[in-house]
Amino acid sequence: MLAHLVIDDFRCLHHVELELSPSLNLIWGENGVGKTSILEAAYVLGRGRSFRTRLSDRLIRQGEDRFVVFGRTDSEPPHAAGMEVSKENGTRARLDGRNLDSLAELAAAISAQVIDPEIHKLIEQGPERRRRWLDWLVFHVEPDFGAVWSRYTRCLRQRNAALRVGSTIMQAWDPELIATGQHLADARTRVLERLRPFWQQTVESLSGLQPVLSMSRGWAQDEEFDSALRLAIERDRVRGSTTVGPHRMDIHLRLHGKAARDVLSRGQQKLVAASMVLAQIKLLTAELGIRPLLLLDDPAAELDSNRLALFVAEIRALNCQLLMTSLQAEASLLGTPDRVFHVKQGGVKRV
Ligand SMILES: Nc1ncnc2c1ncn2[C@@H]1O[C@H](COP(=O)(O)OP(=O)(O)O)[C@@H](O)[C@H]1O
Ligand SMILES: [Mg+2]
Repeated sequence: MLAHLVIDDFRCLHHVELELSPSLNLIWGENGVGKTSILEAAYVLGRGRSFRTRLSDRLIRQGEDRFVVFGRTDSEPPHAAGMEVSKENGTRARLDGRNLDSLAELAAAISAQVIDPEIHKLIEQGPERRRRWLDWLVFHVEPDFGAVWSRYTRCLRQRNAALRVGSTIMQAWDPELIATGQHLADARTRVLERLRPFWQQTVESLSGLQPVLSMSRGWAQDEEFDSALRLAIERDRVRGSTTVGPHRMDIHLRLHGKAARDVLSRGQQKLVAASMVLAQIKLLTAELGIRPLLLLDDPAAELDSNRLALFVAEIRALNCQLLMTSLQAEASLLGTPDRVFHVKQGGVKRV
């Protein structure tokens, strides 16, 4: 659980310090004062990137050359985590006084998820968001996933480099690529099956729909990875990159046999996408004793009152820390907040 959050020179925020409650925290203020930016900073701390842009430079406050986000958890053991992005040195992550080479440890120390008004993009847009969605969970559930993923991407880079120059040594990378790639696909398959009961319950109660979720591993369903690689070799040579493998994985959502993005309304897409996120949190709290931080950006926006009531019921039943924004001082929506912060141009005040 995130107990203390310090934000410096992030978007419009010059310096913000928040002492957070373990349950419901409300951040309120007018449009454009920096409410979403506070959630974004907390997310960057756990994820190493924003949910609004992939260009971290954009997050640096105008006229400054770096931002810093720092967080302290009161978990057992407690952690002190820091993220800095500077124009000169790029991204630096620190945990408990050490510089980190990978963001994996940070993600384990601060488990952050977000539901914002753009959540429908999880369904509407390309596979990258859905890969990130599933992999965040796999990473928490399967302890070696992060390390195997690093090995796989290293192999993939080498192989692609060899493909681009038309070298035949690229086959030297294949055994490691195949072993790690198969491992990643198996881990994802296991975790998706484990998620399925949480997903079905959540999506049905939230949307009243029963969309079917399935995964394509990144190569043909009826093939082994090694033969899929062999079959793709001519195409890979022409393209100068590896066209099959877990880096091409996708999650498919279908309703009555049709792609969800084609048949669901925008409102339904939001509910289905929110269910995808909530189901993961339920699995983590119920089976792994992890209490994630859920960032809720303006949850009242765009949901009709019936759906909103269902959404609120789902959120209230979660056992996780909540950080929520609103245009109003009271979030009657989710009950009385434990902590309320008022954001005004240039500053945040606890009320
Ligand atoms: N890099 C930046 N430097 C300074 N201001 C920024 C930067 N990026 C965005 N902003 C400004 O930050 C303000 C706050 O945005 P936001 O967090 O979305 O507010 P809210 O959620 O309260 O409506 C916006 O007015 C935007 O113009
Ligand atoms: Mg906002």
